Amino acid sequence: MSDGSSMPELSQRTPQGVLWAYENWLPLTKDTPRISLGEGNTPLIPAPGLSRKVGAEVYLKLEGANPTASFKDRGMTMAVSKAREQGAEAVICASTGNTAASAAAYASRAGLECIVLLPEGKVALGKLASVAHCGARVVTIQGNFDEALEIVRFLTGKYPVQGVNSINPYRIEGQTTGAFEIVDALGAAPTYQAMPVGNAGNISAYWRGYKTYHQAGRLKGLPIMLGFQAAGAAPIVTGKPVPHPETVASAIRIGRPASWQTAVQARDESGGIIDMVTDEEIIAAYQLLGTLEGVFCEPASAAGVAGILKLARGGFFKAGDSVVCILTGHGLKDPETAISVAAQPVTLPADGQVVADYLGYGQNRS
Ligand code: F0G
Repeated sequence: MSDGSSMPELSQRTPQGVLWAYENWLPLTKDTPRISLGEGNTPLIPAPGLSRKVGAEVYLKLEGANPTASFKDRGMTMAVSKAREQGAEAVICASTGNTAASAAAYASRAGLECIVLLPEGKVALGKLASVAHCGARVVTIQGNFDEALEIVRFLTGKYPVQGVNSINPYRIEGQTTGAFEIVDALGAAPTYQAMPVGNAGNISAYWRGYKTYHQAGRLKGLPIMLGFQAAGAAPIVTGKPVPHPETVASAIRIGRPASWQTAVQARDESGGIIDMVTDEEIIAAYQLLGTLEGVFCEPASAAGVAGILKLARGGFFKAGDSVVCILTGHGLKDPETAISVAAQPVTLPADGQVVADYLGYGQNRS
């Protein structure tokens, strides 16, 4: 039996999560505590139904399988570990919900105070529940995400609280691991990578990840990046900030993305596209993922799929092309939208024959 004195700190003794899987690719030192919930290593599944519709080989990266059910955990494990290493006592973020849920969880695990600034009335129920559960201090801002992020910039510049939005470079570093996993799983980059774009940190992180592997000789060709904004919140597409962004995809209801420049760089360096999709196209793709592939993601996550369906209508893809769609968050985060767009259930008496008749089985088929 060990006397305990030679045992590493408990948080270091669970070799799982992206800080272990990609430790040589991340800015860790021997002093960095590893604050982890076992994030990353998410499924990358083929989507045969979508592939037929699009005319290319489509894969779905299920980022809702992360511990707090979104891709944010990849960046948050890194950012909160660094905050602890640097002696921070509190972390803060502005959020449309997922960053807040992730920050709350990782801060709680690190023993740090967590403050989240949420836009009033626009955060999906599962995200609110998740934040509350981990004991974060929640401040509802009478404004939108962009205004809440301005307040984070103000507070972190003036007070001893560390920001964990994607303007924190460690968030982006952690999120590069999504690209590493795709290359490690496929043995190459896909022809295209499709994803939603909100504050634009994730598209910047993926591109950085692919380039990092490429420069290190781990990857030959680079993918072409396809980003999609919601039509009511599409500043990168229109080329100007949107003062009052609106979309059913509340996670990407953002009018002034912090990583605007690096997203444009990812688009241009890869020879890609940042386009927009309407709320109707987002909801249609969201429902199609459920009915065709059995996959439940949140509406924002479906924007990438809506985007490739839109491009496919114009004959964009060629046979042999591969497309990885990043499904950024789990559908259970937003149960209200799921229920509001689905068929309503029927209520019947507790009578087998009535149910059989309703189902169309009829008496002579019994
Ligand atoms: N998908 C989901 C589910 C998101 O929560 C977000 C961003 C995005 C896509 C867009 O990613 O901002 O890196 O371009 N959510 C942030 C939040 C803004 O506060 O949770 P991005």
